[in-house]
Amino acid sequence: MTAAVETVLVEPVARLVGHLRVPGDKSISHRAVLIGAICDGETRVAGFGRSADTEATVAAVRALGAEVYEHDVDTLRVFGRGLRGLRPPAGPVDCANAGTLMRLACGVLAGQDGAFELTGDTSLSARPMERVAEPLRRMGARIETTDGHAPLRIVGGPLAPIDYELPVASAQVKSAVLLAGLFAEGDATTVVEPAPTRDHTERMLAAAGARVRIGERSVSVWAAERLQLGEVEVPGDFSSAAPFLVAATLVPGSELHLHGVNLNPRRTGLLSVLERMGARITVYNRRSIGGEPGGDLEVRSAELVGTRVRLEEVPLAIDELPLFALAACSAHGDSVLRGAAELRAKETDRIDAVVDGLKALGAHVRGTPDGFVVRGVPTRLRGGRLSSRGDHRIAMLGAIAGLASREGVRIDDAAAVAVSFPGFFDLLDTLRRQAAA
Ligand code: S3P
Repeated sequence: MTAAVETVLVEPVARLVGHLRVPGDKSISHRAVLIGAICDGETRVAGFGRSADTEATVAAVRALGAEVYEHDVDTLRVFGRGLRGLRPPAGPVDCANAGTLMRLACGVLAGQDGAFELTGDTSLSARPMERVAEPLRRMGARIETTDGHAPLRIVGGPLAPIDYELPVASAQVKSAVLLAGLFAEGDATTVVEPAPTRDHTERMLAAAGARVRIGERSVSVWAAERLQLGEVEVPGDFSSAAPFLVAATLVPGSELHLHGVNLNPRRTGLLSVLERMGARITVYNRRSIGGEPGGDLEVRSAELVGTRVRLEEVPLAIDELPLFALAACSAHGDSVLRGAAELRAKETDRIDAVVDGLKALGAHVRGTPDGFVVRGVPTRLRGGRLSSRGDHRIAMLGAIAGLASREGVRIDDAAAVAVSFPGFFDLLDTLRRQAAA
């Protein structure tokens, strides 16, 4: 048996109690390493969210000439090569499953000297890449896709600033253009968003000394001479906390505390949606963690009512929308998600994966071209078997469904959780022991 096809049975749990921490934010961890690689000198990263995805970023910047020392599991030192100091490795840069790495690297490499090739695994090679290639070409980059997908070939060189209106709300595309803007002499490079998306890149570039202007729906960056990050403290990943928020909401008698979580409002759309549904989630010890809004969360079980996700909430909850579907299954009344066709362009088609997966567990859910409709039944789901389809978020969805089910859930290819949260099943075991104590 290989790890990739491992099947895990997650049995129902009577309640969830205790205190936990989740790994460092994946989006911020990717950026700290990638931006650290084009900084001058040393960047110390504390709370690094180690996962298959972020390890791919460490391997990529090493291949490009940066040095990375791993002091322990979540502490890194990145020795940057300066803004234009990355060098082509002998072969392609393997981005594995990491869309964030591939798309952000395009922006960085467009400004370097030399020719670079970026490859990814089967899932990443099926995801759309013209969305980054197109604006970068407008800036003067030479970048070729393979029928719109990876492998990508980039020949770095001089870039010109652009004003770019994003056709889809995507933080990855925004970030690729802003990173390329660091190399574009003259005016500002400006990205206009159709709806606000996560803003970690612009925050980190400003922290590194770049000139950045943040408007309501736009971000501008000017060419930089040098960047220096120094220290990056990575807060806990809200996207990794979200499964536990939903689990404790659904499993009666639960009371969980999650500590040190990133609560950047561009990430916490699921909180607003769950609160509207009647969830009992309290934020306390609000504080800044590594320059991002953060805090601790207390979640108690609650009866939910169905809701509609608002269009502007979609990008703010994009990676948590599968969990919203699960919460909606046990709510009173119907729930609706629209305007989320982007879910079809994730690690899998997450609309199909959610609909097929939850139906197999006894849910009443149907897919639409850009979302889903759930008929809630306020009891535990029956349970059954679901395939992660190699997608970490679907594997975790299955596991949380299992905890809150009557019969448990068997997850095929459960090892996919390692893409963002390698310790996920160990943490579930700990919670199960605490529930029994
Ligand atoms: C990410 C942005 C989002 C998100 C992904 C991480 C990032 O993707 O789904 O998991 O770190 O910028 P899109 O920008 O494609 O929406």
